[in-house]
Amino acid sequence: MRIDILTLFPDMCEAFLSESIIGRARAAGLVDIRCTNIRDYAGNKHNRVDDYPYGGGTGMVMQPGPIYDCYQAVRGDRDCHLIYLTPQGKTLTQERVKELAQMDDLVLLCGHYEGVDERVIEEIVDEELSIGDYVLTGGELPALVLADSISRMLPGVLANEDAFTEESHYGHLLEYPQYTRPPEWRDREVPEVLLSGDHGRVDRWRLEQAVERTLERRPDLLEAAEEAGELTTEEQDILRDRKS
Ligand code: ADE
Repeated sequence: MRIDILTLFPDMCEAFLSESIIGRARAAGLVDIRCTNIRDYAGNKHNRVDDYPYGGGTGMVMQPGPIYDCYQAVRGDRDCHLIYLTPQGKTLTQERVKELAQMDDLVLLCGHYEGVDERVIEEIVDEELSIGDYVLTGGELPALVLADSISRMLPGVLANEDAFTEESHYGHLLEYPQYTRPPEWRDREVPEVLLSGDHGRVDRWRLEQAVERTLERRPDLLEAAEEAGELTTEEQDILRDRKS
């Protein structure tokens, strides 16, 4: 899969994308992520890519020409799906991440200033996505969030295939708590069951913890799963036991 990020801050994006799991995945050729500077397509000697908003108001608006030219150059003759990161978009979900991970050529457009001239959005954007109901200074962090969440779904990127299976298994639940050595730290002990070596008990305990956490922190997730008939019999048992 190839992901192109169109941005005014390619170095900022590269810095993140060169580290850790994504950095290794890129080096191994599992995902091809490239950052392109929209300013390289400014087309004027001052390298300007923004201007005052028609109708007045504060802030600057990114001009349509440089974004359009940058996209055409990056796209070449490929058929790409262009996503504009904006608080105006639909909220990103794990479900959408999984769908996007099936695509071959994605382009992520990062906006800045007060926004982007609406005409270039109409002309080239296929989808607008938000990463949550808060406003950031630009689309770079959202584009990196999206690139990261998609990359970890690609075959071979995560060392441990469990990260996948567990996630689909516990799809509508929050994660159970994790522990590692030492077994005792600042008078806090690792739960005894995790040291027992009894995989059946461990699995049951983890599922109970996941259900408990979800009830406490995100009861909406459980309600939605219940309504959609997605709860396993084991999960239904735990919920029933808990009520009685
Ligand atoms: N640009 C600024 N804030 C954003 C957000 N929350 N999601 C996506 N793009 C953004």
